[in-house]
Parts: sequence; structure tokens; C-alpha cells
Amino acid sequence: MVDTKTQYHKIKAEVDKAVIEVMESTAFINGKIVQDFSANLSAYLGIKHTIPCANGTDALQIAMMALGLQPGDEVITPSFTYIATTEVIALLKLTPVFVEVNPQTFCIDPAAIEKAITPKTKLIVPVHLYGQSAPMEEIMAIAKKHNLFVVEDNAQAIGCDYTFSDGTKKKTGTIGHIGTTSFYPSKNLGAFGDGGAISTNDDELAVKLKMIANHGQSKQYYHDMVGCNSRLDTIQAAILDIKLKHLDEYVTARRTVADYYDTAFANLPADKAGHPKIKIPFRAAYSNHAFHQYTLILEGVDRNGLKQFLADNNIPAMIYYPVAGHKQKMFESFNTASQVMPVTDWLTERVISLPIHTEMDEEQLGYITSKVLEFVNK
Ligand SMILES: Cc1ncc(COP(=O)(O)O)c(C=O)c1O
Repeated sequence: MVDTKTQYHKIKAEVDKAVIEVMESTAFINGKIVQDFSANLSAYLGIKHTIPCANGTDALQIAMMALGLQPGDEVITPSFTYIATTEVIALLKLTPVFVEVNPQTFCIDPAAIEKAITPKTKLIVPVHLYGQSAPMEEIMAIAKKHNLFVVEDNAQAIGCDYTFSDGTKKKTGTIGHIGTTSFYPSKNLGAFGDGGAISTNDDELAVKLKMIANHGQSKQYYHDMVGCNSRLDTIQAAILDIKLKHLDEYVTARRTVADYYDTAFANLPADKAGHPKIKIPFRAAYSNHAFHQYTLILEGVDRNGLKQFLADNNIPAMIYYPVAGHKQKMFESFNTASQVMPVTDWLTERVISLPIHTEMDEEQLGYITSKVLEFVNK
């Protein structure tokens, strides 16, 4: 699905030098470059504080730990997301409240949020799925009206710009009270291992987030609250600091791939009900798309058959995600499996993601699209 090797080779000299410098310095934990990277990422995002941590799941956990939530407090989140978003809610003894997504953007539906609010609701966790921003302006207005926190799960959308109705722009992950992201190797900004970060404009929250990520420590060996141990190691920070300079270029390359796919899949014949056999990703007017994934909706096409046909032709394809959160066994005790979620169910049955990354060339794209079309037009 990705070609991190070719991407590495393009910046190999710089990366190898930086990694060797860390090894020579032996400052493997909390070396200076960790602070430098965090400052550079803050500058890129246009936010005051960024706290690096071990991965995107920890980032969500630490964010939720910093908000002073109590067991049983309700957290509104989409069911159609990667499990990390919702798992940490249950891990912290909070109650996940799964709501529907918009069938076009695949992101949380503000009307569904409003309907799900109860006196116990404390937090909304929108996810910018596949690189498409959730409708943050509406979400922040709901949060303000009901006095709720917002933690943006920006693991899939770093590099995405959101435009407010007054024309001002912000990066996703900087609009809510806290934004979290992941540097998993295949992400838009990928490390050579695990990594994550938490960002906020709130000075007090920043202090708390930093403490929680470091055993609740206020000064060495003084631990004011229960925290965890979640660090971005220095080698990863050194690599990420180099890759950050290329992030916009990486996102542009992903968009070029998406444009190619869009053109190839435009104007396909419709099924009996009049739906096009392939629906290309929607691009919301309020943001650009960071295309972490290029995800199609299939109508009247045998999805497993297509996936197998592509695999037989050496083309990977993935189903993100075949089982929605509310139907996962891990949430059995919340009795959510019987929740009626037609949009989410519809998506889990129809989505398929094609390879998308920064190193794709026209030959690869031509081959992939011709094989998809060969199957679909059979
Ligand atoms: C939407 C979303 N949230 C959170 C995460 C968790 O990130 P990590 O794998 O770095 O823990 C991911 C990673 O795949 C993700 O896609």
C-alpha cells in the first residue's frame, strides 16, 4: 500500500547522517532533537504546544487523561474509525457513545452528535478519516453550546487545511482543545518505527499533557498525578524532523495520485438502482484532502472478488474497516452491537482502499486502474 523504501532513499544521506549523529551522541531518550522537532511541528501546525509521545494511541489516551474526566463520562465518537480512537475511551473507564458518519465525508455527523448529547457527555472525538477533515466549525459550535471538550484524532490527516466560513484557515489537529496524531510508518508523516504527538494552544493543558506523558512528573522524582511513560525516541525525532520539511510535498504527491484515480474512475456505468459502480472520494468544500487513504465505495461490485482479483495481479487493496466500533466484541459491555447505524453499516460493506503514497508513478497507476476497471466492467 505504501513505498517507504523509495521515499527513504530520496532523503537517505540526510537521514543516515542524522541517525548516526544521535547514535554518536548516545542521547537516545529526550535528546535535543526531540524538543527541536516538537517546536518545528508546532510551527508547521501553527499551534503553541506539541508534546511528542510514543504513538498515536498513547496520544489519544494522554489527551483524554488530561481533561479531568470521571469514570462513566460519555465520549461521543464515530463508530466508523480505527479501533485506537474508541479503545482508549473504554480503557480509561469512560463510556464510548458511537454515532453516525456522513456518507460522503466518512467523518462524524454533527446532527448525530447533537442527538447523542446527554448530561453525562463531556467530550467529542472527531476523526479526520482517510485525510478528510471532519466539519470542525460545526463541531466546535456544538461543543461550545454544550460546554464540551473536543479532541481531534488527526492521525490520518496531518497536512490537511481547514477553511472556516470567514475564510480563515487552520491545520486539522489545531482546532479542537487538543489534537493528536500518529507517526506510524505508513502515515503522511511517518517515522521509521512508532511515534505520536499531542498538540494544544492551552498553556495549562500543555503542562498537564507533558506531565502525564512522563509519569505525572512535575520535577524529577516528584509525581503529582498518575501518568504513563510515553516518549518519542530521539532517533525517530531526528528522522521526523527531516521528513517534516517534506510533508507538504508528500501530501501534494498523494493528491496527484488521487487526481489520477478520480479521472480514471469518472463516468463509470451505474448499477440497476442508478448508483455509479465506483464512487470516488468526496472532497469537502471546507477543507482540502490529505489523502492518507484513497477509498472507493463500490455499488453492485463484488468487493471480495475485486480484492482477490487485484491480489492475483500483485495489487494490494485494503478494507478500512470491515467491522465498525459499535459491533466490536471489546465493547460488548456497552451493549452497542444492536445500535442502528445504517450509514456506518453501508460503508463497512462497500469501502475499499487502493494503494496511495508519495512514490507512485503513472505506470503503476495505469496498471492499477486498468485492473480495477477490468474487474468492474466485466
Ligand atoms: C484514526 C487513527 N487513530 C489513531 C491511530 C493510532 O496510531 P498508532 O498506531 O500510532 O498508535 C491510528 C493509526 O493507525 C489511526 O488511523
